[in-house]
Amino acid sequence: MTDAHRSDIETVLTENRTFAPTAGWSSAGPGAEPVTPHVASMEQYREMHARSLADPEGFWGDIANELHWFKPWDKVLDWSAPDAKWFVGATTNLSYNCLDRHIDDGHGDDLALIWEGEPMDGGPEVKRFTYRELRAQVCKFANVLKSLGVKKGDVVTIYMPMVPEMAIAVLACARIGAPHSVIFGGFSASAIADRVVDANSKIIVTADGGWRRGSIVPLKDNVDAACTQCDTLDHVVVFERCGNDISWHHEPSNSHGDKRDHWWHDLMQAASEDCPAEHMDAEDPLFVLYTSGTTGKPKGIMHTTGGYMVFTYLTSKYVFDLHPDANQVYWCTADIGWITGHSYIVYGVMPNRVPTIMYEGAPNHPTPDRFWSIVERHKVTHFYTAPTAIRAFMKWGDNHPRKHNLQSLRVLGTVGEPINPEAWMWYHRIIGHEKCPIVDTWWQTETAGHMLTPLPAVTPTKPGSCTLPFFGVDAAIVSEDGVEQPNNTGGLLAIRKPWPGVLRGILGDRERFIDVYWSRIKDASGEPYYFPGDGARRDADGYFWIMGRVDDVINVSGHRLGTMEVESALVSHEAVVEAAVVGMPHEIKGTGIAAFVTLGPGFDADETLRKQLREHVGNEIGAIAKPDQIRFTEALPKTRSGKIMRRLLRDIAAGVEKVGDTTTLEDYSVLAKLRESKEG
Ligand code: WT7
Repeated sequence: MTDAHRSDIETVLTENRTFAPTAGWSSAGPGAEPVTPHVASMEQYREMHARSLADPEGFWGDIANELHWFKPWDKVLDWSAPDAKWFVGATTNLSYNCLDRHIDDGHGDDLALIWEGEPMDGGPEVKRFTYRELRAQVCKFANVLKSLGVKKGDVVTIYMPMVPEMAIAVLACARIGAPHSVIFGGFSASAIADRVVDANSKIIVTADGGWRRGSIVPLKDNVDAACTQCDTLDHVVVFERCGNDISWHHEPSNSHGDKRDHWWHDLMQAASEDCPAEHMDAEDPLFVLYTSGTTGKPKGIMHTTGGYMVFTYLTSKYVFDLHPDANQVYWCTADIGWITGHSYIVYGVMPNRVPTIMYEGAPNHPTPDRFWSIVERHKVTHFYTAPTAIRAFMKWGDNHPRKHNLQSLRVLGTVGEPINPEAWMWYHRIIGHEKCPIVDTWWQTETAGHMLTPLPAVTPTKPGSCTLPFFGVDAAIVSEDGVEQPNNTGGLLAIRKPWPGVLRGILGDRERFIDVYWSRIKDASGEPYYFPGDGARRDADGYFWIMGRVDDVINVSGHRLGTMEVESALVSHEAVVEAAVVGMPHEIKGTGIAAFVTLGPGFDADETLRKQLREHVGNEIGAIAKPDQIRFTEALPKTRSGKIMRRLLRDIAAGVEKVGDTTTLEDYSVLAKLRESKEG
C-alpha cells in the first residue's frame, strides 16, 4: 500500500468522508452514448421513495406496466402477514420478458449475452447471442425438458459451470414454468443429494466439467456420486464442455425404463426452436435457491414470478442506471449458482435490454489481470463484484489494472458483505479513476434484489455504507422488542412492509419461514417485521451501516454459511466427538472459518488429521466451507447450562488478548487449555 493510500484511509476513517455523487462522472464513455439518469436528483429520489411507501400499489403498478403481461392483475398487493401476493390474478412469463418482448419490439438482433470461457490458449473463447439467437436455444432446451417429461411445477436441478447453456437452462425452465433449483458448482455430491431430495427433483442438468483456474471441476463425477446418495433422479442431462473422461450411466435409474444419462447436444439436435411461453400466474413459483441458515440444514428459498420480475427489473434499471440503445455493457462477476447471478446476470438485466456478460473462470487465470482484460476488450460500462474480490485485487497489486484501459467504466457495484473503507477507496481510485460512482448494495437471497443502496450519480456515498433504502423498502433499526433506535445506535435491521421480491416461503417448511423471518420483531400492535438477520446502525444522515450477522451465520467471501452446517460436517467424521465453529477476521475473505474440535479416544491431534478434516468438510459441503483454522482442544468452553460460549471462541480465534466476560464459564481450566491449543 502506498503512503497516499494510507493517509486517505485515515481521512475516511476519521472524517467519515462523503463523496459527491457526480464528481467527475459522465454518463457516456468511449463507445457509450450519453444518457440522462433515470433519477435526476436526491429530491426526486426522496419523492419517489415517499410515494412508494405511501402508495405501494400505485407505485408498483406503474412500474409493472413497463413489462409484458398476458393478463393484467386484479389487485397489485394482497398482504396478510407473513404472506404477500403481488399482481394478483395476472399472468406473465419471465423468459418472455427477457427475450420475446425485445424481439417483438424489433430488437431481435441486439446483443443479449456475451460469454467468455476461461482457457486462454490461442486467445479467449468468446460467444455472443442476440435475443433471437438466445430465444432459439432457450426454446429448444425447453422442448428438451418437455420431452423428458418435465411439466409445469416440476423442479429442475441445474449444476453447471458458467457457460451460456447455464443461462439457457435457467430461461428454459422459466419458459415452461418448471421451477429451477440451481446448485453452485462448488458444492459437493452430498450437498447436491440433500438439495435434490429436499426439492423432490427428478432431473438434473450438468456438464462433464467446467474450467476453473486451469483445472477441470468434475461436475459429472459429483452428480454420479450424488446419485448414489439419493434415488429421485430419473434424468441427468450432460453438456459437453471440457471433453474430459466421465462415466456414463446407460441403464434406467427407475422403473419407468428411461435411460438415465443424456448428452445435451443429442437432445438439442432433435428439438424444435418453437416453444410458446407458458402463461404463468404471478404467484407461480419461479425458482427455489438454497441458502444457509442457523441449523445444519440449508433452506430452499422460494421466489415467485411476477413480483420477482418487477423488483429485479426495477432495481437493475435504477441501481445500475441501465439504458438500452446506449452501448452499455453490463458485467456482474458472480456465479449464476448464487442469487446475485440469478437476479443480476439474468432476470433483472435482460428485461432492461442491456447485454450481460458471463465469464466462466477465475479472476486470476491465467494472470491476475484477467478481469481488467475483460473490461477493456468488451468495453464494460457496469461492473459488479464482491469486496472479497476487491481485496484480492489490492493484494495482487495496482500494476494489473493499470495495464488496461478501463475508461469505458461508468458504474461500479459491490455486494455480499460490508466493504471496508480501504477496499472502497482502492476500487474508487484504481478501477474507477475517481470518476465512477460506487453502489454498495445490501440485500439477500430472501429479498430477491437490492434493498439498501445508493443510486449512481444521485446519492452521495460514504465508504462502507450501503446508504439509503430502495423504492418500496421501509427499513428501520430496532431493539429486540421492536422499538426504533436513535441515530448511531446499533440494533437489528428490520423491514416494515412487504416489497415485490420478498421470499414467499421456505420449501416444505412453513414453520421455519415464520420463525426465522417473521417472529423475532413486531411493532406495538403485534404486526411482524421482516427480520433479515443483520445488525446495523443508521447515522445522522439516515445512512445505513451494516454491522454483520447477529445469528450463527457467517459470511465467508460474500457467501453465507451456517456454523452449524460446518459443525455437523465435522462431527460426521469418525475422529470428532464435538465441534464448535465460529467466524474470525480474514484479510481477503472478510470472515474466515475457525473450528474447535475435540477428538475421540485413540485419535492423534496432528497435521494429518487436520488435513483429513478439512477434506472431509469439503466433501460434505464444498470447498468454501473448509475451515481456515482447526484447533484441537480437550473440551469446549460451556456455560453452566451447557451452552457453548461462542463469543469466547470468537475472541480466541481472532487472537484477542483479553477475552470477553467468562464469569459464566463452567470450567475455568478449559479456557487455559484453549489458549494453548495451536491454530493450524
Ligand atoms: C447476507 C446475505 C446479496 C447477494 C449476496 C449475498 C450480507 C450482503 C451486503 C452489503 C453488508 C452485506 C448480509 C446479508 N451482505 N450484501 N452490501 N453490505 N453486508 O447473499 O448469501 O443471501 O447473504 O450478506 O449479512 O444478510 P446471501
